[in-house]
Amino acid sequence: MTMTVNAADLYQRVSHVVPAIEWATMVEDVEAIMRLKVERNAVILAHNYMTPEIFHAVADITGDSLALAREAIDVEAEVIVLAGVHFMAETAKLLNPDKTVLIPDLASGCSLAESITAADVRALRAANPGVPVVTYVNTSAAVKAESDICCTSGNAVEIIESLGVPKVIMIPDRFLAANIARKTGVEVITHPGACEVHERFTPADIADIREKWAGVTVLAHPECPPNVVDAADYAGSTAQMVSYVANQHPKRVALITECSMSDNVAQQFPSTEFVRPCNLCPHMKRNTLASIRHALETMTNEVTVPADVADRARTSVERMLAVKVGK
Ligand code: 13P
Ligand code: SF4
Repeated sequence: MTMTVNAADLYQRVSHVVPAIEWATMVEDVEAIMRLKVERNAVILAHNYMTPEIFHAVADITGDSLALAREAIDVEAEVIVLAGVHFMAETAKLLNPDKTVLIPDLASGCSLAESITAADVRALRAANPGVPVVTYVNTSAAVKAESDICCTSGNAVEIIESLGVPKVIMIPDRFLAANIARKTGVEVITHPGACEVHERFTPADIADIREKWAGVTVLAHPECPPNVVDAADYAGSTAQMVSYVANQHPKRVALITECSMSDNVAQQFPSTEFVRPCNLCPHMKRNTLASIRHALETMTNEVTVPADVADRARTSVERMLAVKVGK
């Protein structure tokens, strides 16, 4: 297959991880997606865990869960393709009720979102009267609708501190809740949910990395168990990991998170060596060039949220976005 100039330019963005022979099998889908984005007036929002050919070649906006929610507000295109998981597409829809939001595969779930229902939240409230409910964005719109405010791993400390209360219900990730509780001094009641990717990392994995890769700086996602966070040098959301590498310039770094993260970030920081521990998220990996192309070609896999749920869920997301974070 002959690469067009445009496709050859795109290849430069992924040549650090995608062999030319593999790219040749991708070019047709990449070119079709670029054409369909124009025809459909569509943008692709892609999470940091997308594979490099999605993240670097066809995505328009990339980032962590917080960045994708923030960027969704300013989208002018009529169609949003959310290359990520279902709760992210729901959040984009909540913030863009008049736009068409598509997801490449409707089965792209999340073990955290699946761990809790709206009825569970009502039961937690009944058992803890007056205690505000802070809900991780990795949940369904129905769960967000039962909550007071949302948070992400990138703003959880600021969200909890903004409430000015001694106790919160923070759902559904027990590890994120434990890691954040230690940073705030606020008492946290939680729920037994966990991310199936991050819960598998252990302190022994970190010890092994340190032994094999002298001088490595270890950055862990706060969805990891607290003993893994303790064994790391820093804990933060995927975007906070990128900022850490940008500001601290470690010679060698290990990102304790999903597989594609290092592949995507490595291109930006050629002077840092990336050790690539790898736990794959099967839900994120349902996003492929073929599934993105199919969604745009057929305008299928639309994500909608019932109006009664949407209004209350949107309030929880908007309250989160109103809290100032960082410098
Ligand atoms: P962030 O990118 O917000 O850190 O979230 C990680 C994650 O697991 C998303 O599903
Ligand atoms: Fe959910 Fe974990 Fe996959 Fe993120 S990485 S979508 S939290 S299962």
